[in-house]
Amino acid sequence: MSDTLTIKDNRTGKDYEIDIVDGNISAKDLRQIKINQGDFGMMSYDPGFMNTANCTSRITDLHGSEGILRYRGYPIEQLAEKSTFLDVVYLLFNGDLPNRQESSDWEERLTHHTMIHEKTKSFLKGFNYDAHPMGVFISTVAALSTFYPDARNVDDPDVRLLQACRLIGKTPTIASYAYRNSRGLPFIYPDNDLSYTGNFLNMMYRMVEPRYQAHPVLERALDILFILHADHEQNCSTSAMRNIASSKADPFVSVAGAAAALYGPSHGGANEAVLNMLKEIGTKDKVADYMNRCKDGELRLMGFGHRVYKNYDPRARIVKKVAEEVFEVTGRNPLIDVAMELERIALEDDYFVSRKLYPNVDFYSGLIYEAMGFPMEAFTVLFAIPRTAGWLAQWMEQMEDPEFRIARPRQNYQGPGERHVPDDYKS
Ligand code: ACO
Repeated sequence: MSDTLTIKDNRTGKDYEIDIVDGNISAKDLRQIKINQGDFGMMSYDPGFMNTANCTSRITDLHGSEGILRYRGYPIEQLAEKSTFLDVVYLLFNGDLPNRQESSDWEERLTHHTMIHEKTKSFLKGFNYDAHPMGVFISTVAALSTFYPDARNVDDPDVRLLQACRLIGKTPTIASYAYRNSRGLPFIYPDNDLSYTGNFLNMMYRMVEPRYQAHPVLERALDILFILHADHEQNCSTSAMRNIASSKADPFVSVAGAAAALYGPSHGGANEAVLNMLKEIGTKDKVADYMNRCKDGELRLMGFGHRVYKNYDPRARIVKKVAEEVFEVTGRNPLIDVAMELERIALEDDYFVSRKLYPNVDFYSGLIYEAMGFPMEAFTVLFAIPRTAGWLAQWMEQMEDPEFRIARPRQNYQGPGERHVPDDYKS
């Protein structure tokens, strides 16, 4: 058996033999298929990248039809149960989990980067009180680029790692400052004796008490949510990160661009959209009517469906369990009943079953965030903080890839051929 694909071009009657590597063919190999010497050659056409691999990666393994997600080979369920977010960041960056010493050195290294330049505060104060937190987050992350000109040296691996640590350390500080600014509250400096999520909750919620101590169940719940959101291979925002970074832009502006891609309601903005939807439905008895509008194509059921998962999203299963643990502490969010009724009907309804539409990670996460006191507009920022780890891991991998190229897709041009501008075109 040979690892090749034979293609017959019926326009010319010619046969072509194309190599198969790792089960794929190279789109570039199609260029040899021409109708004549002047022909540019054949391209593959794939709007939305439904079936195009853009890179070789060794970070996240996703089997959508089986509902499997693994970081560096470790199942997401085991990481959520036994690991911490910072250890998962180490895993994504370095390829394996840290031992005890490596884990504490890593935590110390990252907490050295939690402060942000004092000037950032005046920058943040320039936003309106009702500015959307994602707009504030994206702009502030991009602004960090101006404080760290060394970040432009993206070809140096030590420089890359330093910027990655800065970003992991600073994103919770930026998110909490944005929140406090919107509420007119004073900024709270990071407390490096606290855990990553404990410190974040401290910066969000501390008032006049000398020391804020988050409830351990909530601190751990947020850490698990961060683990679940840390990476998800070549999704819309990660592809945006790779696209921007392929021009060798610095990682601060690249992460800002990736976060902008995350903001949309079809991607990370779905967690906010789900809560809006659940509030609009309001009570269980209105669910069936709402679902009919989704089936008629008038609406989309937010938090349902996924480009890659054609089975239950394994993260959604974990989030649902975490929600119950959080509600034990915060009290039950009544909208969970509406969400569960939506899920129950969808899993039985032929429209959703035949299209393989299952709850995704965003379906239940907003209910937890709301129970923990986060404002709805901040939900996507809570996704962006952990996903920064994935964007950076993918970026560092990309920068070392021997096949590194600037991203520059082709197009299928079907517009007019050459024509001339009439002298009197304005008359
Ligand atoms: N509600 C109702 N119908 C849906 C939904 C939904 N949420 N999602 C897909 N469909 C239907 C489509 O109408 C289409 O039906 P048709 O074949 O009759 O035309 C079919 O299912 C396939 O849908 P596509 O849009 O082609 O699927 P695609 O892979 O392009 O989209 C996406 C995936 C964007 C996630 C989509 O499912 C969606 O809009 N979901 C709601 C938003 C959401 O929750 N996004 C978060 C995704 S997870 C994440 O990014 C972290």
